[in-house]
Order: sequence, then structure tokens, then C-alpha cells
Amino acid sequence: MIKPFDKPIYVTKPFLPPLEEFSKGLEEIWESRWLTNNGPIVRRFTQELSNFFESDNICLFNNGTQALQIALQGMKISGEVITTPYTFVATTHALFWNKIRPVFVDIEPNYYTIDPEKVEAAITPWTTAILAVHVYGHPCKLNELADIASRNNLKIIYDAAHAFGVNVGGKSIAHFGDLSMFSFHATKLFHSMEGGMLTFKEAGLKGIFNYLKNFGFKNEVEVVIPGTNAKMNEMQALMGSQVLKYLNDLINKRTEITDLYRQRLKEIPGIHLVPPLSSVIKYNYGYMPIEVDEEEFEMNRDELYDKLKKYNIFTRRYFYPLICDYACYGSVSVRDPLTIARRVSEKILTLPIYDGLELSDVETICNVIEYLRFGSSKS
Ligand SMILES: Cc1ncc(COP(=O)(O)O)c(C=O)c1O
Repeated sequence: MIKPFDKPIYVTKPFLPPLEEFSKGLEEIWESRWLTNNGPIVRRFTQELSNFFESDNICLFNNGTQALQIALQGMKISGEVITTPYTFVATTHALFWNKIRPVFVDIEPNYYTIDPEKVEAAITPWTTAILAVHVYGHPCKLNELADIASRNNLKIIYDAAHAFGVNVGGKSIAHFGDLSMFSFHATKLFHSMEGGMLTFKEAGLKGIFNYLKNFGFKNEVEVVIPGTNAKMNEMQALMGSQVLKYLNDLINKRTEITDLYRQRLKEIPGIHLVPPLSSVIKYNYGYMPIEVDEEEFEMNRDELYDKLKKYNIFTRRYFYPLICDYACYGSVSVRDPLTIARRVSEKILTLPIYDGLELSDVETICNVIEYLRFGSSKS
């Protein structure tokens, strides 16, 4: 029997910059007394991100969900949008808030991103866009989707909530498709406590997004669109700006953790790892998903999830259930049998990964998984 952790090990823990650094930044806010409404720190953070993404076409928000809602509205997306059921609920909610019908299609089995063949098969005269998700930061099949979109005159919108810091062929993932949404939620590799960002191709969208996130105000006396309030505030921008400085360190630490998990788990029957990503992808190591095969592991995913809790290890069944199985989407008809998405959703488990997780803790987590499979740990 392996001793449970004394303190809970959660699936993630937000990185915080050194307190002295954050306090210094707070002094600036106390000095300026500027808390929100496009203050100096938001402007500075916007510039830092603009440099990071090598693009002027970016816009910051108070969270990723509202950023995506505003993106769909600003781009005038309507009718039907083809999307994945294997994601966080906010992806689909953003469609519903814009009265757009989601058309759920299956994912591919290796990296869990939307299957381009299924996308193509689901196009109807009402389809206006594809809303694909770089789930766990795994890039979607970018070329195939671009090809389908251009042949069918569709927009491609990427939910890149998980994909901050991911590059493909030396280019940031933000540069693919018509628009990408990044979430800076505290649970993400890169965060601003809460926050979100849009990056987009068409420069003209920036003005529209800026109106939409600030009640539609053009100036003190003119309101040009019935907008909402989705502005990032100074505290969020301060956190984001400081976390950005540590991004490479955070990714390096997660790389070590992932390597150790992969090395330890690859031999355990019934634990399936994501295949290595193509060498053109620079990954961000945001998540550590595994699939649990009931027959080979001699225990199903839910049993493993529950047993790990007894050791104070809190994993997530991320993403289960599928979005289309939530009661609020019960009335959406789904034509695709979603065979792969259903299978993955029943088997998936994401393991703890965050910069403060010690490699010795990763060893212990792996020892526990090994012990649960074999009744003893080889290590
Ligand atoms: C795939 C995905 N889309 C959208 C969101 C929503 O982002 P936010 O929490 O910043 O609103 C999240 C996470 O929170 C997510 O994981």
C-alpha cells in the first residue's frame, strides 16, 4: 500500500509571480487609481501580447467565453456552425448566445480534434462557419480545415483556449483560421486570473470588438452597437503581464513533468498516451490526458478516478460528458454518431500538471497508478 499524499494534489494549480513583483505592480495601480476602462496596464499588456503574437490584430477581454461570444457576433456568424462536442461547455454556449445552431461532428482518435471528413459531410446551405477547438493545445488539422473552408466559403474560428504558446511550423497557432480565442483563466498554463483574447485576420474587426466589449460606446455621446461589458481590468492585465515573463519557464517545467509521466506510464497495460506530436509543432504541455482501457487496466476510468481520490490525487474527466449530452442541449438533434468522441469521453482522464508539481510527486502518482494495476509498484 502506498501512503496517500498528505495534501491534495489537484489537476492544476495556478502559477503566481513572486509576491514582491505583484506588489510593485499594485503600487502603480494605487498611484494611478485607474482600475478599468482601458487603463495603462491593459494597454501595456496589449502591446506585450501584440509583440508576442507579432500581430496588431488582437483584442483583450475579461474572459474567454465573452470573447468568443463577441467574436461570433462581430463576425456576423449565423445559421449553423459545425463544431465538436468534445470541449468545454463554453464553446457551444457562445454559439447559443448568438442564436446559432451547433452541428456536432466527431473527433479524430489521436489528438481529439474535430475530424475534417466529418466536417465536410455535415455542411448544409445554412452552414456559415467551423468552430474547432485545439483541445489540450493539440493543433487541429489546420490544412484540411482551411481547404474545406475555402472550397465552401466558410469562416474558421478556433477555440484556442488551451493553446497559448503553441506554434506550428515556426508560426503561432494564433495565425491560423479567421480568428482564434484564447482563455487566460486561472486554470490555464498562461493566465490573468480571468481573461480572454481574440486574434484575427481582418483588421477591421478590431474596432467592432472594441465597441462590443464596451457597451458600444464610440465616444461620450454616441453608442453605435448594443454592446456588452466584457473589458479586461487593470488587475487582470497586471497578473497577465507578469505571468507572461515566466511562460518559457512554465513550459519547460511542464515538459519535464510530461516526459516523466510518459516514461513511467507507457509500460502500464491499459494506460494509453497521446502519440508524439509532429516535429513541426511546438507544444505547450498544458494538459496530461491519458485513456484508460477497462479491459487491459482491469478497472474502468471512473474506478481509477475514484481510487486516485483516496490517495489525495484529484484528476479530471475532462471532457465528460460530451456537450450534446448536457440537459440544456437535449433538444439539439445530432446526426453524427460521434463514435470516437463517445469512446474517448468514457476513457479520458487528465492527470495533475502544473509548474509547482514536484517530479517526486509525479513518481508517486505513477507508483499509485502502477500499484492499482498490478497490486504492487515496481518502483
Ligand atoms: C475549450 C475552452 N473553451 C472556452 C473556455 C472558456 O474560457 P473562460 O473560462 O476564459 O471563459 C474554456 C475554459 O475555461 C475552455 O477550456
